[in-house]
Amino acid sequence: MGFKRTLLAAGAAVGILAGGATGALAGQPTVEVLHWWTSGGEAKALKALKDDFTAHGGKWIDSPVAGGGGSAAMTVLRARVLAGDPPTAVQLKGPAIQEWAAQGVVANLDDVAKKEGWDKVIPPMLQKIVKYKGDYVAVPVNIHRVNWIWANPKLLAEVGAKIPTTWAEFNTVADKLKAKGITPLAHGGQPWQDATIFETVVMGIGGADFYRKALVELDDNALKSDTMIKVFDQMRKIRGDVDADFSGREWNLATNMVMNGKAAMQIMGDWAKGEFLAAGKVPGKDFLCAPTPTKGGAFILNSDSLVMFKVKGKDKIEGQKLLAKLILGKKFQETFNLYKGSIPARLDVPMGKFDSCALKSLADLKSAMKNNTLVPSMAHGIALPGNLSGAIIDVVTAHFNSNMSSKEAVKRLAEAVDLAKS
Ligand code: BGC
Repeated sequence: MGFKRTLLAAGAAVGILAGGATGALAGQPTVEVLHWWTSGGEAKALKALKDDFTAHGGKWIDSPVAGGGGSAAMTVLRARVLAGDPPTAVQLKGPAIQEWAAQGVVANLDDVAKKEGWDKVIPPMLQKIVKYKGDYVAVPVNIHRVNWIWANPKLLAEVGAKIPTTWAEFNTVADKLKAKGITPLAHGGQPWQDATIFETVVMGIGGADFYRKALVELDDNALKSDTMIKVFDQMRKIRGDVDADFSGREWNLATNMVMNGKAAMQIMGDWAKGEFLAAGKVPGKDFLCAPTPTKGGAFILNSDSLVMFKVKGKDKIEGQKLLAKLILGKKFQETFNLYKGSIPARLDVPMGKFDSCALKSLADLKSAMKNNTLVPSMAHGIALPGNLSGAIIDVVTAHFNSNMSSKEAVKRLAEAVDLAKS
């Protein structure tokens, strides 16, 4: 379904959230923020933004829409915009930013960007995401890495294993864990979580060039290739590594399973680290982090941004400007990302307080940029517009939840992409 049609279809859901700045002092900079940061770590990170905003005289109206990955929040956003009542600020990502900008409904942030020197502090890979036709229309908050394994060191030690560095090793370790009655992989069976695992497998088995051909360029040969068949073979193997109750589970509950010794590993972006930290766990001791098996230290990029929608009223417009300015402040970038599990969106923030996982993320990001192994996340809306990633994710989930053969999955993948492109 194209973007405009999706927008129209959302009309049925109008009026879910009440916006407005009731209760604000006259002229007080005010924002209503629509987001899906509702888990323990996410909420702590968001509170840092709220506190910074209110400490600078602003009034914050919170509009959370629960649901990891954000698809529920996007439905609410479409409904709000259709109803002529857009939130002042919205958590958005990747091509969705461009799509909203093309609709003419988002505010231009060039004034703030110029004053704050964003061109100098935002890395070019993020500038591409947050600019539309050369103008800033979004403020990047963070840099998340998707391709991580989070592990319980005690459970791995029970089978004498370390975090696996190849998929073959992953399978051996998983089999050993199962033989001891330990669930190898904590997983939440929701389409975006299936897709999160899938893209790390595409990267690990195919490498960065294959990832780009298949999941960014949507090259028909790559989608139908033997490599893609191997990817689905590995997905089938992984399906056997999750517990019986995986279906529908939220990602943070899966993280809790690793924390509480109910499963040995989770494949998830580094927002999972935010959960471990919020529970007082220490990296290297209570939990381990390592990249999912990849060739050449690749980095799958996910980055959150806030987009300001066009609104009326001086208080709201001033609120947007204040929020945009604060988000890229060096101190704020440090505080927020320490909670969120990500690394700062500007690369000149002192990293002294960040843990070993964050430092690894930054080091791998830099080497991935140098070696051309930095790729955008498909599962998290950075690589493709929603209708195209949706087509891929549907097939990945259908395969994961059935006995579909890898050959059939590859055939369906190519067909679904073809249809979505037309
Ligand atoms: C977002 C993260 C968020 C995660 C789970 C991702 O798509 O980029 O900020 O923590 O979903 O909700």
